[in-house]
Amino acid sequence: MSEILRLTEAYVKYGDIPALSGVSLTAKQGDMIFITGANGSGKSTLTKAIAGLLPLSAGTLTRTPRMSYVPQYEEGDRDFPASVREIVLTGTQRPGNFFHTKADRQHAEAAMNALGISGLADSEIRTLSGGQLRRVFLARAVCGQPELLLLDEPCAGLDAQTHETLFTILRGMLAEGCAVVMVTHDISDIDGIPEGRVIRISAGRILTHE
Ligand SMILES: Nc1ncnc2c1ncn2[C@@H]1O[C@H](COP(=O)(O)OP(=O)(O)OP(=O)(O)O)[C@@H](O)[C@H]1O
Ligand SMILES: [Mg+2]
Repeated sequence: MSEILRLTEAYVKYGDIPALSGVSLTAKQGDMIFITGANGSGKSTLTKAIAGLLPLSAGTLTRTPRMSYVPQYEEGDRDFPASVREIVLTGTQRPGNFFHTKADRQHAEAAMNALGISGLADSEIRTLSGGQLRRVFLARAVCGQPELLLLDEPCAGLDAQTHETLFTILRGMLAEGCAVVMVTHDISDIDGIPEGRVIRISAGRILTHE
């Protein structure tokens, strides 16, 4: 199995304040990695560092460019005119490719269908509930057919059925060789999910690899 992600001895600071200290993590094709820890322990910082959104002050990051990232949901202003379908389709965009192919559209329709939002495809995103919007961002991430899927607290705000749907989708992607890194502060989110490694972090350091 080929390697998808390698983070070695990574340090991240916000100003002078350390947020990650000496974190190392690797993922190969088909790996499921859960990252857990208390509020403020550095989980989102770690996913942003892997996504390339935060610079490392020391250490190295090597990963596939075919990555989809779903940030932790925060209530914010989303009052701009875009439909669900338009947002999901942006997940198929690749550098230098500004047009959607027929296959891109099919992937977007399949992802909306899998997440149960086909009926909302023409709705403007400002009219959605928080949980519906999460499903839109998950569909967007899934339809890009990533080699690495980074999910920051994807289960927050999802109903039980959508939670189950998400894991069914993830299992399918893992079977096709996608590596998944998923943050959850609530370990009960992954109860009954035997496959996968659990990494606990505290104050920006990895405590345990299980
Ligand atoms: N943009 C920022 N500027 C300064 N400090 C930050 C910033 N973002 C996060 N921090 C700090 O870095 C630490 C780690 O934050 P992070 O968001 O990674 O935690 P988390 O484990 O994801 O927490 P939560 O469970 O609440 O989502 C915290 O002490 C936080 O206050
Ligand atoms: Mg967080």
